[in-house]
Amino acid sequence: MPKLYIETVGCQMNVLDSELVVAALRQRGYELTGSTSDADTILFNTCSVREHAEEKIYSALGRLKNAKRQNPHKIIGVIGCMAQNHQRTVFERAPYVDLVVGPGQLHQVPDLLEKIAAGAGPQLEVSLGRKDGSRDEITRSHESFDPLRDPTMRPTPFQAYVRIQIGCDKFCTYCIVPSVRGPEQSRPPQHILAEARQLAAEGCKEITLLGQTVNSYRYRDGERTTRMSDLLAALHEIDGLERIKFVTNYPKDMTDDLLAAVRDLPKLAKYLHVPAQSGSNRVLQRMKRGYTIEEYREMHARIRDWLPEAAVTSDFIVGFCGETDEDFEESCELVRECHFKNSFIFKYSQRPGTKGAELYADDVPEDVKRRRNNELLAIQNQISEEDNQPFLGRQVEVLVEGPSKSAERSGATGILPVQNREQTQPPGLTGKMPVAHETVQLVGRTMCDRIVVFDGNPRQIGQILPVSIYDANAHTLFGAVVTQHVGPELFTLTT
Ligand code: 5AD
Ligand code: SF4
Repeated sequence: MPKLYIETVGCQMNVLDSELVVAALRQRGYELTGSTSDADTILFNTCSVREHAEEKIYSALGRLKNAKRQNPHKIIGVIGCMAQNHQRTVFERAPYVDLVVGPGQLHQVPDLLEKIAAGAGPQLEVSLGRKDGSRDEITRSHESFDPLRDPTMRPTPFQAYVRIQIGCDKFCTYCIVPSVRGPEQSRPPQHILAEARQLAAEGCKEITLLGQTVNSYRYRDGERTTRMSDLLAALHEIDGLERIKFVTNYPKDMTDDLLAAVRDLPKLAKYLHVPAQSGSNRVLQRMKRGYTIEEYREMHARIRDWLPEAAVTSDFIVGFCGETDEDFEESCELVRECHFKNSFIFKYSQRPGTKGAELYADDVPEDVKRRRNNELLAIQNQISEEDNQPFLGRQVEVLVEGPSKSAERSGATGILPVQNREQTQPPGLTGKMPVAHETVQLVGRTMCDRIVVFDGNPRQIGQILPVSIYDANAHTLFGAVVTQHVGPELFTLTT
């Protein structure tokens, strides 16, 4: 049986793509390995959003040069966004790479690997660029790829990503995604529902719907239009599913019917990731985000009106072209004012091929970007900590994901760590059976996507449990499983 090593970087979309590629390869007899040295095929599923992510892949490829020299039959492949972005350049920079496949062509990976093994030489399959044909041709060249699922490849078997949309048409000037993932396409609702039903039947309790601008989801079929809120209502009906999340939202498409759906459907997570990117109108305009900061504030106020308890999170880019201290201060102000549960903060990374790279100089020095990044992060961390304080003494419902990182590091459990499951899991095995009576530190999430750490029993993994919170820092709530009094005896949920 050929052995496959796969490494995934980037967003949830890539995690899902890797799951699907592995599922397809398992059907062809591949088994997974956690080490590059005993792998017959090594795949890197890559990201192009920032330069750093691409350079790390070239370094990883560089480290494989000798292994390939020693064993020329080892197949090395680069798949995903960097493959689409760099295409032949990957072969130029790492001539021993055998396979380059863009995110719109991943269904071809199994056949291409067979061709390479049969001696056909290096293979390149990418989709059309955004100027390389009619919209229809370009769209068709970005095939969505959702035929098979593989529960053992997921971070946990009871949580799954479901793609509802591919590509993006917003063309924010800093962003490479519209070039590498192609035109925005919403997936037919009946396909999404069938996949969600299948996942629920396999024991999946939580699905996270994925799209670059997920709330722009809209599917037209003749006279009928399915909006995001309609799709959520239909998914909500599926027995077995207990939680539904969706990422990432585009501020301008946060419509009232969607907020009403999140409010009224109990399985929907009261959690909205709606990136602002900047608090300054001047910067937003240069970014071509399509809204003013006043419009973002209005949208945020509507979320608070409809969903006062919801956790709202954001992304920010610091050091975008021409960003002044005053512009940056406006981002700080927005973070303070909106009281985000969390913000992901990135230093601007110029991406060749974007409008931003063409129109504006990357003129904010690296040390200023770093300082702004740290400053905004410090403001956000303080808010995150404040935001977690009201949970002290409260009870929350936690979907238990697995042993906490520190429990894993100390080797306290016989279970595979949540984060590394896909790397370490041999095919067909579910890992060492947890020891049922052992108490370990477990980690899970609330409906609002808050991370909760508590002591429990490995058997509780995959359950939704009441946890009482006694401590909190910026990123984690600490709690104890609530014991229930049933009948004459004390029945504890931890046993
Ligand atoms: N430089 C830095 N951050 C970027 N992002 C997207 N493109 C860039 C870039 N060129 C950030 C945005 C987006 C997140 C996924 O990555 O904040 O929301
Ligand atoms: Fe990139 Fe903007 Fe599309 Fe998000 S909305 S993927 S930032 S172009």
